[in-house]
Amino acid sequence: MTYKTIDSSRISISQLMQPSHSNFSGKIHGGYILNLMDQIAFGCASKHSETYCVTASVETVDFLNPIEIGELVTMKASINYVGRTSMVVGIRVESENIRTGEVKHCNSSYFTMVAKDDDGNSVEVPGLIVNDKTEVKRFLKSIKRIETKKSRQKEFDSEDFSHIDYLDELKQYRVKVELPDNY
Ligand SMILES: CC(C)(COP(=O)(O)OP(=O)(O)OC[C@H]1O[C@@H](n2cnc3c(N)ncnc32)[C@H](O)[C@@H]1OP(=O)(O)O)[C@@H](O)C(=O)NCCC(=O)NCCS
Repeated sequence: MTYKTIDSSRISISQLMQPSHSNFSGKIHGGYILNLMDQIAFGCASKHSETYCVTASVETVDFLNPIEIGELVTMKASINYVGRTSMVVGIRVESENIRTGEVKHCNSSYFTMVAKDDDGNSVEVPGLIVNDKTEVKRFLKSIKRIETKKSRQKEFDSEDFSHIDYLDELKQYRVKVELPDNY
């Protein structure tokens, strides 16, 4: 099996935010940012795997700060984790006010990309060489995220899930449970 460093597929892009990218309140549209993030995730995963990739999932998209028209957005992407055919690409988004030089952290997200061959079959990707504390931490955080997602799926997607078991728990939330009698 081959192993590759994180640096060998690390990429970044910068783009000036245009008025055509804004929403009704004059800020940059979140969907436009997600589109750019998907492109950089594809670039980073394709570089690591040397294949085409598809987006399997996107985790944690918190828009921490709005982005204004005229700001320079920079996205940095690196491989955080590899499985057999999947890779988690971590992306950090920052925007810079060109006149003041102020930089804001706008978003950090994790895209899971799957490597594909020409026939659309998932293919094995190279292993990852981690060579500092941050890289080890990011790999471990990805493992935790994957385990948490699996346990959530196991709890709620299993055949024997019963909503009745959770009704008491719901009493502490702002929700009225009005089920039909036979439900
Ligand atoms: C994602 C996809 C390739 C998975 O295919 P699959 O037949 O379920 O493949 P597998 O079960 O063999 O899984 C392949 C890998 O993807 C991972 N994976 C599959 N679904 C996933 C999900 N929802 N989230 C995270 N990882 C996922 C698996 O864990 C596995 O990883 P590993 O090989 O590193 O262990 C398939 O569901 C797909 O093609 N989805 C559509 C992708 C697409 O069109 N994206 C663009 C959206 S518009």
